[in-house]
Amino acid sequence: MKTRKRIVTLTLAVLTAAAGLALLGPGSQWAAAHTEPHTAEELKIFRQVFMEYVVLGDKLFHGDPAAQEELDVTLSETGMACAMCHPSNVDVHPNEFPKYQEQMQEFATLRDMINWCIENPNQGITVPHDSRAMRALEAYIYWSSRGSPLAPGVH
Ligand code: HEC
Repeated sequence: MKTRKRIVTLTLAVLTAAAGLALLGPGSQWAAAHTEPHTAEELKIFRQVFMEYVVLGDKLFHGDPAAQEELDVTLSETGMACAMCHPSNVDVHPNEFPKYQEQMQEFATLRDMINWCIENPNQGITVPHDSRAMRALEAYIYWSSRGSPLAPGVH
C-alpha cells in the first residue's frame, strides 16, 4: 500500500515537471539561446546603444539646453542642473534604490527619486518613467556608479 502511494506521488511529480516544461515552451528556447556567447559584432552594437544613453544622460545631468530641447523636457526652472548639487555623482547612490525615502514618505525607485529632484529642488516638469530622458538619466547615473556593490534599502 505504502509503495503504491509512493509510486503515485512520484508519477504525479514527473507529470507536473513535464507539464511545467511544456508550459515553458518558447521560454526554454530563450533560456538555451542565452547560453550562446554573443558575437563581437552584437556586443559592439549593445555597447554603442548603452553609451548613447550614457552620453545623453551626462548632458541632461549637466543641464545641456540642446539635449533638453531635443527630448522636450524641462529638468529645471531654477538654473540649477543636477550636477550643481551632485557634483561628483557619488552622492546619488543609485545602488541603494529602491528604498524608503524620507522626503517622499514613500518607498521609492531611482526613477521616483530623479523625478522628486526635478519637481522639488529644480521646480522642473516631471519626466515620464518610460521616456528616453528618464532612461538616459538612469543610464548615466548607474554608469557613474559602476562597480559599487548593490545595497538596496540602505541609507
Ligand atoms: C538644488 C539642489 C539639487 C539639485 C539641482 C538636484 N538635486 Fe538631487 N538631491 C537633492 C537633495 C537635497 C537630495 C536629498 C538628499 C538625501 O536624501 O540624502 C537629493 C537626492 C537625490 C538622489 C537620491 C540620493 C540618495 O542617496 O537618496 C538622486 C538619485 C538625485 N538627487 C538625483 C538628481 C537628479 C537626476 C537631478 C537633476 C534632474 C538632481 N538630483 C538635482 C538636491 C538636488
